[in-house]
Amino acid sequence: MDYLEITGPTKLSGSIAIAGAKNAALPLLTLTLLAKNEVTITNLPQVVDIKTLLKLLGNLGATYTRNEGTLKISTLNVNSTTATYDIVKTMRASVLVLGPLLSRFGHCEVSLPGGCAIGQRPIDLHIKALEEMGAHIDIQAGYVKATAPNGLKGAHIIFDKITVTGTANIVMAAALAHGVTTITNAALEPEVVQVCEVLNASGLRIEGIGTSELIIHGNGGELIDMVDFAVIPDRIEAGTYLCAGAITQSTITLTNVRHDHIGAILAKLTQMGFGLDLKPNTVTLSPAKTIKPVSIVTQEFPAFPTDMQAQFLALSIFANGASTIEERLFENRFMHVSELQRLGANIQLHGNTATVYGPTPLNGTDVMATDLRASSALVLAALSANGVTNVHRIYHLDRGYEKLEEKLRALGANIVRKKEGL
Ligand code: UD1
Repeated sequence: MDYLEITGPTKLSGSIAIAGAKNAALPLLTLTLLAKNEVTITNLPQVVDIKTLLKLLGNLGATYTRNEGTLKISTLNVNSTTATYDIVKTMRASVLVLGPLLSRFGHCEVSLPGGCAIGQRPIDLHIKALEEMGAHIDIQAGYVKATAPNGLKGAHIIFDKITVTGTANIVMAAALAHGVTTITNAALEPEVVQVCEVLNASGLRIEGIGTSELIIHGNGGELIDMVDFAVIPDRIEAGTYLCAGAITQSTITLTNVRHDHIGAILAKLTQMGFGLDLKPNTVTLSPAKTIKPVSIVTQEFPAFPTDMQAQFLALSIFANGASTIEERLFENRFMHVSELQRLGANIQLHGNTATVYGPTPLNGTDVMATDLRASSALVLAALSANGVTNVHRIYHLDRGYEKLEEKLRALGANIVRKKEGL
């Protein structure tokens, strides 16, 4: 197992390019299950979650060649419809094969993902929506066994809660369904929007893209002639590096960013006093005169993303005053708090709200990553802590950050990947 040794405090400078969005690439890869042709995808992030999903698609019978960020994939020879526990347990997003497999083959068996470090994360809304589209679903021995022998039928789905992968799954199921599917209370996240845009560009009719009501005109079971496309930039990776610049009071530039995807993040950085200079596809962050405390509530897009909560919590340790951070999406998403306290942070947790009293100097020690974004918060804190911080269990980071230490080193961080026990 690897860990990261980070020596702080550091000043960063320079420019790095943001990778393709992991959370967009995952549904876009499963979308290719609906294609009748080979599809070329560019700007694919080189992270473990993508490798895991490609392994799953390969197990189903998909063939592909990959050259760094470019993938050519064909799913024409897919002959298995089973997503097994060994893969799904390592990555919950594997559940994104459920909609496409069921709509294409009329049956599939997908392991239940179970809970994860940040909460229970059920998939009941995915299942209920598929049932409303005519699927028969049994949960047997930890597997979702779904059948729709005559194909799925268009329906009016009203999601009780906004769900990102749920919306993507149902859009993909509806794409091959017979008739029109309306999704009310759909997720607005850019990752869902791109799935719809690729389908639209491929000749399918979807109305209301980017709104909370999507109307999908199904293809009646026929596979789609899919266009090639480039994955949108990763808004969470961009936000994380902006926080790296902010926490070290540095000037850094990010390229390959979409400003319209990171509005809530930019707004909070501005409120905290940081300078931001926006040029096409580029953002430059500069230091704050004094870092002001912040009040954050995580919500669905376009509001502040839960996937940036941990990083802003780390940043607010250096603010002058008390910041409050309320987590509304996941019940257990404060695992980083106790690790940040080990570095010296003054944080109090009351239910789903953290109050961070700053500024507090941090001192390096050993800390443990617990989930993907919590891990990045520990790396950020380590950049500004005095002395050496060892961040353990970084396989979480490798799931979602492309070349993390390479990019941080390019900005001037003192960060080395080491092997445990050596
Ligand atoms: C996606 C993102 C994840 C992000 C999250 C919220 C991917 C691969 N992952 O996760 O990084 O943190 O959106 O922005 O894109 N819920 C139910 N029943 C369901 C589905 C969801 O109760 O069937 C609940 C969840 O427990 C959670 C809320 O709805 O409280 C939102 O979850 P959801 O949007 O589905 O998250 P994911 O799509 O799993």
